[in-house]
Amino acid sequence: MWVPPQRLKHALPEGHWPSAEEARDSLWFSPLLAGNLKLEQRTWIPAMVPWRSNEEGEVTQDVLDYYERYAMGFPGALVVEATGVRDIPSGPLLRIGHDRYIPGLRKLVEVVRRASQGRTRLLIQIIDFLGIRRRPEPAKFFARFFEVKDRHRQHFPGASDDEIRHQLSGGKPEFWKQVLDEREYESLQYGWRERVTDLDTPHIQELPRVLPGIFGAAATRAREAGFDGVELHYAHAYTMASFLSGRNDRGDEYGGNRENRVRLPLEVFREVRRQVGQDYAVGCRYVAHEGIVGGYSTADACYYGVEFAQAGMDFLSLSRGGKFEDAKQPAVGWASYPYTGPSGYECMPSYISDDRGPWGRNVASARPIRQAIRSAGLETPVVVTGGICSFNQAEELLRNGSADIIGSARQSLADPDWFHKVALGRGDEVRRCKFSNYCEGLDQKHKQVTCQCWDRLNLDEPGVTLAEDGRRRLLAPVWKP
Ligand SMILES: Cc1cc2nc3c(=O)[nH]c(=O)nc-3n(C[C@H](O)[C@H](O)[C@H](O)COP(=O)(O)O)c2cc1C
Repeated sequence: MWVPPQRLKHALPEGHWPSAEEARDSLWFSPLLAGNLKLEQRTWIPAMVPWRSNEEGEVTQDVLDYYERYAMGFPGALVVEATGVRDIPSGPLLRIGHDRYIPGLRKLVEVVRRASQGRTRLLIQIIDFLGIRRRPEPAKFFARFFEVKDRHRQHFPGASDDEIRHQLSGGKPEFWKQVLDEREYESLQYGWRERVTDLDTPHIQELPRVLPGIFGAAATRAREAGFDGVELHYAHAYTMASFLSGRNDRGDEYGGNRENRVRLPLEVFREVRRQVGQDYAVGCRYVAHEGIVGGYSTADACYYGVEFAQAGMDFLSLSRGGKFEDAKQPAVGWASYPYTGPSGYECMPSYISDDRGPWGRNVASARPIRQAIRSAGLETPVVVTGGICSFNQAEELLRNGSADIIGSARQSLADPDWFHKVALGRGDEVRRCKFSNYCEGLDQKHKQVTCQCWDRLNLDEPGVTLAEDGRRRLLAPVWKP
């Protein structure tokens, strides 16, 4: 993955771990009662795709075990990974695009309820994404995906289309750049990828017409399965975030200025609300800063935050970056991964950083967003995430009004019991995340996500399930208080 060129190595934030009494009196472990979101404590595990589903997108035993393990640490809220709202094949990513998924999801809810003794609120993140293909071999690209047009033919006078394909597939980047347009060149070098701005493609043009209903139906299934709420995925590189993006220059009323860019996300929310009712927790995750050239920054994120809060969302969970536009070129046979460039670093900052460092990297944006919402007279809680992995950090951010809830993704993967340990005054037993992004490297290769802090420990323990490679345990060892 990309790291800032300064390559400064940052030590973990010092952990002053509180006594059980201090923890009990802290804000972090105090309840949050806001609208439809009622948390026993302000600890939150944001969505993390672990690659535990199957090609049908079903809840497998591995999925159940994975979320049960988090529930054993009693987080205030646990958000199930990005789960596809459509009923289309999408590899081993969870899906909620048809009623047949409800029984499996209901089982997941039951497992989490039991393991957390009913203390953890369970949300599910629901996502739509556009088409993407792997980077092809040039010969395959020119034979199968490339349409020869007159503007190409003029570079090859008298040649047949087959000869043109043949000559191009033997060509070099400089030659391709002369003949192909920017989009064709990108498809060859990175793999073809759809955009919300492809208005000449009918199903892209129709997105504003179809997406509210698709999200509404998915949210209804989530409610039927027993989830406490849904998180609309408006972040990173996916469809809804691409509507919000500063680079969305669609020529219709859904692109251009920020009022147009937020239109579909609001329409989707309103339809979800209409379908699930007023008494159900619905919020969204969106980025506080896109971190790409032409992307939106915190000023637009403040505007979006106020719009979402005014529309009646129950929470806003802030992430950062994670875009395709600055992703590294993938190897042939691999798909572009939106966490490999500078914006990807903003999303999942590692311990190798710049002088700002990885700790609480999203806070400088979260604070003004929360303030803008409060100035508009709204109490919508804001979740901030990104490099927050100690009691002191979390408590300080809640005290100084930067956020209402603290999200910790990789630290919770490293130690799913960490909230429980801290609450018991046993913080010095927390297994601390190294922020090396080992987990993110596995995600990038679509491998089952584990943590380097525990995946080689006690592999011969009875009942241990191993990853497909046979070398890693899939779950953190059980902690007995
Ligand atoms: C393996 C992995 C998978 C992730 N999957 C998702 C996801 O499905 N949806 C999402 O919004 N963010 C996802 N993220 C981003 C995290 O939720 C979080 O924002 C990011 O890791 C920064 O927080 P942290 O510093 O507490 O880890 C993922 C992160 C990792 C490491």
